[in-house]
Amino acid sequence: MHTQSGAEDEVAGNGRCSAVALSHHLLEQRVRPGDRVADATCGNGHDTLLLAQLVGPAGRVWGFDIQRRALDATLGLLTAHACQDRVELLEIGHERIADVVLEPLAAVIFNLGYLPGGDRQVVTRPETTRQALSSATDMLLPGGLLLAVVYTGHGGGAEEGEAVAEWAAGLPAESFCVWRCHQPNRHATAPWLLAVEKGTR
Ligand SMILES: C[S@@+](CC[C@H](N)C(=O)[O-])C[C@H]1O[C@@H](n2cnc3c(N)ncnc32)[C@H](O)[C@@H]1O
Repeated sequence: MHTQSGAEDEVAGNGRCSAVALSHHLLEQRVRPGDRVADATCGNGHDTLLLAQLVGPAGRVWGFDIQRRALDATLGLLTAHACQDRVELLEIGHERIADVVLEPLAAVIFNLGYLPGGDRQVVTRPETTRQALSSATDMLLPGGLLLAVVYTGHGGGAEEGEAVAEWAAGLPAESFCVWRCHQPNRHATAPWLLAVEKGTR
């Protein structure tokens, strides 16, 4: 069985060498205290917590998930680390990000697929993912970073991966630096990372 989450990767011995780990490394390089950022898929809250810690008390994080269970888990994790004060958790789809976040963003992270430990039928979907990626990219500050960890091993994952790759290929090269990072020495459906950096002019 192919695993999807960072936590499952950790069990498989790939925690230090996973798309999730690389996404966290890039966020650590880019996000600064006071920044405005978003987690488009809170899940169990690991990415939200990292963002909350990086922006500090003067920063702000918007976290999205369509499952109450995921937001409860995220709030629990944030509270355990005394970071909940700077995070707004929203039980709505990330495709509505532009309706609720009215400030430009330094970074946005997507961690696609299903909630680890939850209902595997509830997954991110190509159409809404593309819509959210486009909106989030529009909202990035110059120099801002959008990351997406993409899983293709579950039902519908391959189609979503293709949609994400196609969307990324359409970004104008003069305005965006785009990387697609995959691990050729792992199984064919190992998660891959999309990184999009908005140009500074
Ligand atoms: C792989 S999990 C995220 C893992 C999470 N980042 C973590 O650190 O634990 C994917 C999450 O996306 C959520 N999701 C699915 N469709 C969504 C949508 N349209 N908007 C926001 N979240 C969505 C699922 O409910 C699930 O919790």
